[in-house]
Amino acid sequence: MYTLAVETSCDDTSAAVVENGTRVLSNIISSQVKDHRRFGGVVPEIASRKHLENTPLVIKAAMEEARLEFRELETIAVTYGPGLVGALLVGLSTAKAMAYALDIPLVGVNHILGHLYAAFIDHDGLEPPLVALVVSGGHTTLVHMQDHGQFRVLGRTRDDAAGEAFDKVARAIGLGYPGGPPVENMARSGNPQAFSFPRSWLEEGSLDFSFSGLKTAVVNNYQRSLQKGEPVHIPDLTASFQQAVVEVLMEKTFAAVRLAGAKRLVLAGGVAANGCLRRCIAGRGLEEGVEVYVPEPVYCTDNAAMIGCASYYQYCRGDRATLSLNAVPGLTL
Ligand code: KG4
Ligand code: ZN
Repeated sequence: MYTLAVETSCDDTSAAVVENGTRVLSNIISSQVKDHRRFGGVVPEIASRKHLENTPLVIKAAMEEARLEFRELETIAVTYGPGLVGALLVGLSTAKAMAYALDIPLVGVNHILGHLYAAFIDHDGLEPPLVALVVSGGHTTLVHMQDHGQFRVLGRTRDDAAGEAFDKVARAIGLGYPGGPPVENMARSGNPQAFSFPRSWLEEGSLDFSFSGLKTAVVNNYQRSLQKGEPVHIPDLTASFQQAVVEVLMEKTFAAVRLAGAKRLVLAGGVAANGCLRRCIAGRGLEEGVEVYVPEPVYCTDNAAMIGCASYYQYCRGDRATLSLNAVPGLTL
């Protein structure tokens, strides 16, 4: 079954063709990073306008790369939330128009679930039950997936998402946007023990997260040094910040795995592209006898292939959206 998937929830315009959920025939991503960089973050109005320009182009490119005609498609999948409302509406309107014109079913996908399902691409053996940590610029969520379609949220962030903390720290210390990759690069040559930044564990047993105190501690430390005219060792600062984020994510994730009695763990979302997090979680998985599944980096950050994958499992359970499907910016699991 061939699915055309469309993803426009934030600042990446993406279209993919996916066969039977997990075989990706094409996955075209048009990044808007250069359009937003000088503003230090995503400007919603610019994002919507760029999606309008780029959506037809990425769809055309995805169909060409997959060597398919539109009439060979069997379903259209689209992200309908969470995300920026104007951005979501561009992909949603396009997908609805295509489903109507081609007279094929439309499936609406929750972006957070899309991130989780990215782990099913190229991992044939992966099956629920499992625990997933979905960690991106907008979300830090621990999910117990009992079966396809059966999800229980075990914890989520109470303030900044982990990726948001990377982005805000990077902006404050002049590393630009998005912050994850340059912070990771800097941290490679730094000492993660150089600064003892706070780890927020919250109440005993809580699987929720809080990263805003850590972010503020890093930014204050940097600004204090500047005011005193002292040099700041950016590699040490970023390595210590990254270490604090990774430690909290890892401890809470394995606490969730124990609580759920899970034997499989999925790490997904943009921050899952972080090499330090990937290595630490994989190492701990080995120690604790838990199978760890992490998508390829290209399927960690926003992409339409993950939306096509999630939609397939929804479609198989009979999930169909009507043409009245609307964007839901604050959609949760
Ligand atoms: O999943 P994604 O593309 O978009 C959202 O749904 O938010 O994630 C983007 C986030 C950004 O905050 C970015 O800084 C972060 O993922 N990110 C990383 C890395 N690559 C991307 N964070 C840490 N290390 C990375 N290598
Ligand atoms: Zn995302």
